[in-house]
Amino acid sequence: MLILAIESSCDDTAAAVLEDGSRVLASVISSQHSVHEKYGGVVPELASRCHIEAVWPVAEEALRQAGATLDEIGLIAATQGPGLVGCLLVGFTFAKSLALVRNIPCVGVDHLAGHLLAILLEENKPAFPYTALVASGGTSSLFAVSSPTEFRLLGRTRDDAAGEAFDKVAKMLNLGCPGGPAVSQRAEQGRADAFAFPRALADGSVDFSFSGLKTAVMNQVNRFQQANQPVPVEDICASFEQAVADVLTEKTIIAAKRAGHRQVVLGGGVAANQRLRRQMAARCAEEDLTCFLPSSAFCTDNAAMIGLAGWHLFQAGQRVGPDADAFSRSPLN
Ligand code: KG4
Repeated sequence: MLILAIESSCDDTAAAVLEDGSRVLASVISSQHSVHEKYGGVVPELASRCHIEAVWPVAEEALRQAGATLDEIGLIAATQGPGLVGCLLVGFTFAKSLALVRNIPCVGVDHLAGHLLAILLEENKPAFPYTALVASGGTSSLFAVSSPTEFRLLGRTRDDAAGEAFDKVAKMLNLGCPGGPAVSQRAEQGRADAFAFPRALADGSVDFSFSGLKTAVMNQVNRFQQANQPVPVEDICASFEQAVADVLTEKTIIAAKRAGHRQVVLGGGVAANQRLRRQMAARCAEEDLTCFLPSSAFCTDNAAMIGLAGWHLFQAGQRVGPDADAFSRSPLN
């Protein structure tokens, strides 16, 4: 069965075509970065309008790249939440409408489930159960994943998400947006031990907190500026990135051990971070855990993971009707 998947939860309009939930025939993403860059962050109203313009061309392009027509699509899956509601409504309404007029079943997918299952799009897949870290712009949470439709929250951020911290630090240092890749690039030339930034909740808790780290970076930047000294951007980026990688890695390992899992999976945009990937792989090896890292394209927002998660919901008998609504907060989190 061919699946057409749509993702529009934030500032990327994405469509994918999959065969039977795991073989990706096409994955197309239309980025809005250039639209939001001058505002220093995503402007929800502009994002919704961009989705309206992009959703049909992106879906058509995915079908074209897959060599498929709408007549061959047996399931439409779309992100139902969480995210910016105006943005979600565009993709979700598009999917429900297309499903209605073409008489195709439709499923609504939780975006977090997509990140938790994205690793199953790769050749090297974990078996169930596993512990998964989702670290993205809106989420930093740990889950026990016991099947493609069963997720149990183990820990979550008490304030900012890790990606949000990357984006805020990039803004403080005028590095542009999205902040994660920009901070990461500057961090490559910096010293990770230049500044001792805080690692919050290092008491065995598997919850996260990044707001104190963000403030510590801001205070450090202010100190240099007030003393009229050049800000050592590379060292600050490297020390900040190291602090984030340390807490994400250590808490993931604690969570996996407590859950009795032997496998650790990463997902979400921050999982594309090279320092985090290296550190997680190394620490898992030391702890005799197997670490599974999705390719960068399946860490950041994409529709292929929505198609995969949607396929499993469909197999479990779930469908949405035309009156189903989008949701801004995930019931999983
Ligand atoms: O998963 P994603 O594409 O969208 C959400 O669902 O939020 O994640 C976006 C977040 C942004 O905060 C971005 O700065 C961050 O992921 N990000 C990174 C990297 N690439 C993207 N953070 C650190 N290092 C990266 N290489």
